[in-house]
Amino acid sequence: MSIDLLSPFKLNNSIELQNRVLMAPLTRCMADDNLVPTQAMVDYYARRADVGLIISEAIIIRADAQGYPNTPGLFTSEQIQGWKKVTDAVHANGGKMFAQLWHVGRVAHPHFFGGDVLAPSAIGVDGSVPRMRELTYVTPKPVTTDDIKGLVADYAKAAENAMEAGFDGVEIHGANGYLIDQFLHYAANERDDEYGQTPENMSRFALEVTDAVIDVVGNERTAMRLTPGAYFNMSEDNRDKAVFDYLLPELENRKLAYLHGGIFDDSMRFDSLEGKSTSEFLRAGYASTLVGVGSYSFETAKEAINDNKFDLIAIGRPLIANPDYISKIKNGEEVIPYSDEMLAELK
Ligand code: FNR
Repeated sequence: MSIDLLSPFKLNNSIELQNRVLMAPLTRCMADDNLVPTQAMVDYYARRADVGLIISEAIIIRADAQGYPNTPGLFTSEQIQGWKKVTDAVHANGGKMFAQLWHVGRVAHPHFFGGDVLAPSAIGVDGSVPRMRELTYVTPKPVTTDDIKGLVADYAKAAENAMEAGFDGVEIHGANGYLIDQFLHYAANERDDEYGQTPENMSRFALEVTDAVIDVVGNERTAMRLTPGAYFNMSEDNRDKAVFDYLLPELENRKLAYLHGGIFDDSMRFDSLEGKSTSEFLRAGYASTLVGVGSYSFETAKEAINDNKFDLIAIGRPLIANPDYISKIKNGEEVIPYSDEMLAELK
């Protein structure tokens, strides 16, 4: 019998989803100048509460985590109260929501916080901040082991704040070339201490953050997003695969809520992953709940889930274009195609 994506899915003993369609994390740069969610954001998320799980746009865990204008935070009481309004509205509409915890590492810019840009190694990214092209990226300061301890503690604190703000769980943003991912790829990690050079060392920061977050919210409310193939703010290295071959079973042992590939197009194949796509590589190394993402329609996702390529689907851009995506699918109505101009407004 074929799997119906619109029927409930039990993530674990703590969380049951009303369907298998997740809202992918989507940065919108619409928080106020104190990085507090606005009423427009409350309404935007509340309109999408009929998905199985909303994953919030990436939320910065502390001031030096910021690399883009007006990205929301989760480190002041005002920000926590702002998110509480969002989660209350989502819950009132019958939905569930995870917070995506974010530190951009070397993709940060001092313009936003006036301090050092932190990263595993002093290797900068080329180019400038999107939407603020006058801000050229700087060479980051390699983190000390004390800096690392502070970062791990701040991820845990943000997870605690997420609980206070009423989120149902957290997704650790370990993808897309940001801080955690910088440790996981040779292009950004040239450390010669216990955080570099070997798969075990390069996975250490990701696992320390995971364990610290689990300590606060529990494994059933902790999820991870990864991009084993470097494609964004980072270049591929054939040694990267071994890092993820080590990391995936370690994550699986921790019995997370789910693992999530973070990619724009899952048909993209990576030389560094022996020609596999993101979901193929993750499925081969991780047998527990996997979320697929990246240019899927409801129909192609249904096929992939029925072919056992992953268990749940995250939908991004179509949910920007169609706040009523789920009801359109249920009623067999046409879905409006996404276009970049839609980013100008929260609908
Ligand atoms: C994204 N994506 C993204 N990913 C992430 O992990 N955190 C984020 O905050 C964002 N922000 C974001 C903003 C915008 C405008 C886009 C288009 C994408 C990536 C996103 O979660 C997803 O992986 C891709 O959009 C691919 O899925 P779709 O859109 O093809 O369904």
